[in-house]
Amino acid sequence: EKKQIVDNFGRKHTYLRISLTDRCNLRCFYCMPEEGIELMEKSSIMTIEEIIELATKFRDLGVDTIRLTGGEPLVRKNFGYLVEELAKLGVTLKITTNGIMLDRYLELFQKIGLKKINLSLDTLNKARSVFITKRDYFDRIWKNIQQALEMDMEVKLNIVLIKTVNDKEINDFIELTKHKNLTVKFIEFMPFKGNKWDWSKGVGKQEILDTISEKFGSIKELENPKHSTSTNFKVPGHVGNFAIVSTITNPFCSECNRIRVTADGKMKNCLFANSETDLLTPLRNGEKMEELIINAIKTKKYSRDGMDVKMDADHYENNRSMISIGG
Ligand code: GTP
Ligand code: 5AD
Ligand code: SF4
Repeated sequence: EKKQIVDNFGRKHTYLRISLTDRCNLRCFYCMPEEGIELMEKSSIMTIEEIIELATKFRDLGVDTIRLTGGEPLVRKNFGYLVEELAKLGVTLKITTNGIMLDRYLELFQKIGLKKINLSLDTLNKARSVFITKRDYFDRIWKNIQQALEMDMEVKLNIVLIKTVNDKEINDFIELTKHKNLTVKFIEFMPFKGNKWDWSKGVGKQEILDTISEKFGSIKELENPKHSTSTNFKVPGHVGNFAIVSTITNPFCSECNRIRVTADGKMKNCLFANSETDLLTPLRNGEKMEELIINAIKTKKYSRDGMDVKMDADHYENNRSMISIGG
């Protein structure tokens, strides 16, 4: 019988998120501490060949979907080679990027069949984009989004909503879905090390829905694929959709099928997991990894690594910063 990655709650893990680097060409305040993070040493980061080797082992254990994340995955050296090799594994490949360097890779993505691109874009306002990201790339990102859409990529925009920053833009994003075939995905602000989280700055699912229906009237709820982290909707008549990732107010852990591997080769059972399993050292030692991975998933907690609705600061401050997890 084929070995699979199943936790103690019977959840089969088939979706792997691999962080390729802890570096990024933006500085979004909700993702990394103001003072930056201590960057990983080069020797502790998985090489391209090690990433491919590890991905193959996960594929052999039943993983059928791999999402590449960061930091910013496209700043990783030899990214093109990596993604071409991963495409040979026969899994569904996806990427989450800030879009700055997307134009360099769209043709390659088309060639290898990578169509699912999630793109962080928290605002449609250039000045606000500079405020959020501390960099001035808005026009370039916007141009790359247009290009991706013209090439029929499945684009989802990731919008982390923060009160007094971009919460008044919800309906501007919805307006975008009127004629564009994309999904705008509103994300509840989540706590990680050093990001000064406080739920009073967050915007919850119900508030988002109320804001939208106040302007656009009735909202159609779409079917949610199994294991989805978002609930999906449409304003009737609009071409595109919208979605909400409600980790804080409506967690969706019961169907969780995700595993994460950080750029330094640590397996995380949950976005909020404080304990990690080192996969890189045994990989470098040429050890068999199957049992290690299968046993590691057995320590997975049911929801949010055991945090309750209040989200315990002692817990998440002991986690990594989002930039070194990859979302
Ligand atoms: P899809 O494959 O399109 O469903 O992507 P996704 O939305 O899961 O991934 P993406 O990288 O675009 O992340 C969007 C937001 O969802 C980020 O804030 C992630 O941190 C969050 N997210 C992704 N996976 C999980 C998860 O398993 N649990 C929780 N709580 N949040 C997640
Ligand atoms: N809360 C919620 N989502 C976040 N992201 C980054 N930091 C946070 C946070 N604190 C999202 C970004 C990015 C994705 C990988 O994670 O939208 O696109
Ligand atoms: Fe899975 Fe953890 Fe996300 Fe819940 S919070 S869906 S357990 S990764």
